[in-house]
Amino acid sequence: MKAIVVTDEAAGTAGMRLVQRPEPQPAINDVVVEVCASGFVPTEMAWPSTWTDRLGRDRTPSVPGHELAGVISAVGYGTTGLSVGQRVFGLTDWYRDGSLAQYVAVEARNLAPLPGDVEFTVGASLPISGLTAWQGLFEHGRLQAGHSVLVHGAAGAVGSMVTQLAREFGGYVIGTGRAGDRQKAFEFGAQEFVDLGNDVLEDVGGVDLVFDVIGGDIGKRSAGLIRAGGTLVSVVGPPEQRPSDGLAVDFVVVSDRGQLGEIVGRVRDGRLRTNIGNVATLDDAVAALNPTERITGKTIIRVRP
Ligand SMILES: NC(=O)c1ccc[n+]([C@@H]2O[C@H](COP(=O)([O-])OP(=O)(O)OC[C@H]3O[C@@H](n4cnc5c(N)ncnc54)[C@H](OP(=O)(O)O)[C@@H]3O)[C@@H](O)[C@H]2O)c1
Repeated sequence: MKAIVVTDEAAGTAGMRLVQRPEPQPAINDVVVEVCASGFVPTEMAWPSTWTDRLGRDRTPSVPGHELAGVISAVGYGTTGLSVGQRVFGLTDWYRDGSLAQYVAVEARNLAPLPGDVEFTVGASLPISGLTAWQGLFEHGRLQAGHSVLVHGAAGAVGSMVTQLAREFGGYVIGTGRAGDRQKAFEFGAQEFVDLGNDVLEDVGGVDLVFDVIGGDIGKRSAGLIRAGGTLVSVVGPPEQRPSDGLAVDFVVVSDRGQLGEIVGRVRDGRLRTNIGNVATLDDAVAALNPTERITGKTIIRVRP
């Protein structure tokens, strides 16, 4: 099968190559999916799991891409709940070969059915950004109607999902980002916007919840904006500064079939809009994943034409 592989950590996405690899076999409780569309997060090149297995041993050449939508082509010993021919979408294991390939083996529990009226490219754009937003807002951030929510990177892949879900559940959303992202953040539902290059973040005043996808200095300064009892949720590592009278939580997204169903249901009925910036074929994936100009939104690789 065709697959994108990486072998050189220092080279990052520039080291991606399109090669021939053996097709994966399903292990216990796995399915093999014929990948129709694949999603990739640029920071995967910095994740230890891209380069080593759980024991820290080199696992290159590894296939990146951990979001997928496709059709099940085989089921492993003991696998229940999904069957050959079924449309699915979801997350692949961080420590196993991923979805920038024609086939991938995945534990069945990490996938959910993809309704027939949702395109594969849309399905592949949802798992990481949708689940991260859902878990950050509802499981870790304890969002309640009436809360004010500062959403960093509100025009980005995760931030646009956070913005829409926070609005649906009654939050008041202040989005942040680059100057050119203002209009896009408003279109996703932000009610105010802070241009991090030109406005003063501290002018926002107190908020109940910060959803941080940026970290660094922005993360540190955000801790001071949390009201008593509020929460700073980070998806970019442990917060360097904690709120003086609130919680600081960082987490890595996990797959959840029920939550994938909630997310795709909202895409079908129009409550959630996905944020795709570019779609390319697997043959053109290396160039598409090494863009020469800024792309906003996710790059999705259409693996099966
Ligand atoms: N822990 C987890 O489970 C988890 C899950 C998903 C994502 N993440 C992490 O979350 C981060 C965001 O992911 P994403 O897919 O949403 O990325 P993305 O689509 O690139 O969105 C990030 C947004 O924030 C903006 N931004 C970044 N730094 C900024 C700054 N200093 N000032 C103003 N705007 C800034 C970006 O603009 P530019 O494009 O111009 O930089 C972009 O619009 C990544 O680091 C990713 O690894 C973690």
